[in-house]
Amino acid sequence: MPEGTTQPFVTHVLKAEKIVFSEYDHHIQRRLSAMKGQYLDQAAYQALLAREDALLYEVYEMRRPEVPGELLFGLSIVHPGIVGQEYFMTKGHFHTVLETAEVYYCLRGEGFMVMETPEGECKVEALRLDSVLYVPPRWAHRSVNTSSDTDLVTFFVYPGHSGHDYGSIEQQGFRKLILARDGRPEIVDNPRWHSPEKRKK
Ligand code: F6R
Ligand code: ZN
Repeated sequence: MPEGTTQPFVTHVLKAEKIVFSEYDHHIQRRLSAMKGQYLDQAAYQALLAREDALLYEVYEMRRPEVPGELLFGLSIVHPGIVGQEYFMTKGHFHTVLETAEVYYCLRGEGFMVMETPEGECKVEALRLDSVLYVPPRWAHRSVNTSSDTDLVTFFVYPGHSGHDYGSIEQQGFRKLILARDGRPEIVDNPRWHSPEKRKK
């Protein structure tokens, strides 16, 4: 066996009230307090946080060596909920190695993947049961759960050496927001977002 080679293994997706892996290496829980500055309606964010540090999303990961050739994969579970008019969502990130892609497969629920490039090109794709979404290299990505009562559960896989860059998204968010208007999701421009040219000034 060559040095550094990992062993084959299998895990199972267990679909009950919650969807989980039978075996996993790591479980991340992201709460409202970790999303400071991410929601447009800061007053609504503070009011909700004062009541409860709600669990927004969870990730079950397989740990593999973070090197080219390996693949990292896991389950992302965004719970249903609203902050002001904005749905519960992941932080969102670019991959540190920009030229790395990611595939998502939707196992439960409904929502959107909000995506954009460093140049400001943007795209929003719907996710529903059995959707397979390809996020190309260079595209930042954020999952948004638009259901009022069901988790948005996706299986994801991406190259081992990708890394995560949260910084630029934390500063001003994505170009598009998904807001609940009259109980339905609407894609709107994010007033906090500036074009890459304006950001430099
Ligand atoms: C990995 C990836 C997903 C997300 C997960 C949580 O590259 O895109 O596993 O990490 O959906 O989202 P973030 O990482 O933005 O908090
Ligand atoms: Zn990613």
